[in-house]
Amino acid sequence: MRILGIETSCDETAVAVVEDGTRVLSSLIASQVPLHEPYGGVVPEVACRAHAEWLRPMVPEALRAASVDWNDIDVVAATARPGLIGALLVGLTAGKALAWANNKPFVAVDHIEGHLHAPRMGGVEIPWPHLALVVSGGHTEIYECASAVSRRLVAATADDAAGECFDKVSALLGLGYPGGPAIEQAALRGDRKAFHFSRGKSGEDGMGLSFSGLKTALLHHLRTHGVESRAGRPRLGKQAGNRPESDAKLPGQRWIDDTAASFQEAAVDMLVRAALAGTERTGIRVLTLTGGVACNRRLGEKLSESGRAAGVTVHVCDRSLCTDNAAMIAGAAFGYASRGLFDGLETEAIPN
Ligand code: KG4
Ligand code: ZN
Repeated sequence: MRILGIETSCDETAVAVVEDGTRVLSSLIASQVPLHEPYGGVVPEVACRAHAEWLRPMVPEALRAASVDWNDIDVVAATARPGLIGALLVGLTAGKALAWANNKPFVAVDHIEGHLHAPRMGGVEIPWPHLALVVSGGHTEIYECASAVSRRLVAATADDAAGECFDKVSALLGLGYPGGPAIEQAALRGDRKAFHFSRGKSGEDGMGLSFSGLKTALLHHLRTHGVESRAGRPRLGKQAGNRPESDAKLPGQRWIDDTAASFQEAAVDMLVRAALAGTERTGIRVLTLTGGVACNRRLGEKLSESGRAAGVTVHVCDRSLCTDNAAMIAGAAFGYASRGLFDGLETEAIPN
């Protein structure tokens, strides 16, 4: 069964063709990072316009890249929830229109189910049930996945998502947008033991997650060292090339790198602690790591290491499928389509 999938829930315009849920025939992703970079974050109206403009040529291009035409496509799928409402509407409306015009059944996909499916792409065998740690810009959650179409929320962040925290801390440190990859790069140069940031409380069940405290701790750390962010750029000392003599005693780039590494270590420790507590609580010894933040090598390494020590098998999603893409959406749709579960064209976009 071949499914054409569309993903436009946030700032990536993506179209893919996937066979039988895991075989990627084509996967196009048009990143909007350069459009949002000057604003330091995603601007919804800018995202919608780009989706509307780019999707049109990308659909025939995805078919061409997969060496198929509409006769070879069995199902159309699009992300319907959650995400930016306008952004979702562009892809969902396009998907429904393409399904109707080409007389194909339609599947409306939950973006999180796409991330949950992503580690299984390429035919990776992951037994059911398994636990999944989903860490992205909008979500930080642990799910118990019983099958491709049933899951239960086990734990979730009480406030910010981990990716959101990486993005905000990166902005404070003047490392740019998107923050996750920028922090990871700086952390490679820094010392992760240079500073200690509290990992917060893990709660009675050990699965408690909260990132607003860590973000605030970073803010205090900057203030204490006089490196407070101004106009999106931290004030650094002379060694970082700054002119004014009055700034000479301020820390420099090395301090920024150490801060990034120490912050990353705290965030990673919190995620690893919650995920392993989840395996303890549920008795499920198979764990997947997925979502944009799963690109982070330190997180993947530390979760795998700690998992090994605790007798838990950890599957880290392939990096190419961690951040938003349409292959995971077409893949997740297969779980429904193969069971004959389709959605009507009256399906609406749901932002939350
Ligand atoms: O899954 P995703 O593409 O979009 C959402 O569904 O939110 O995740 C994007 C998030 C951003 O917050 C980005 O900073 C983060 O994933 N991210 C990373 C890395 N690469 C992307 N966070 C930490 N380390 C990375 N290497
Ligand atoms: Zn996502």
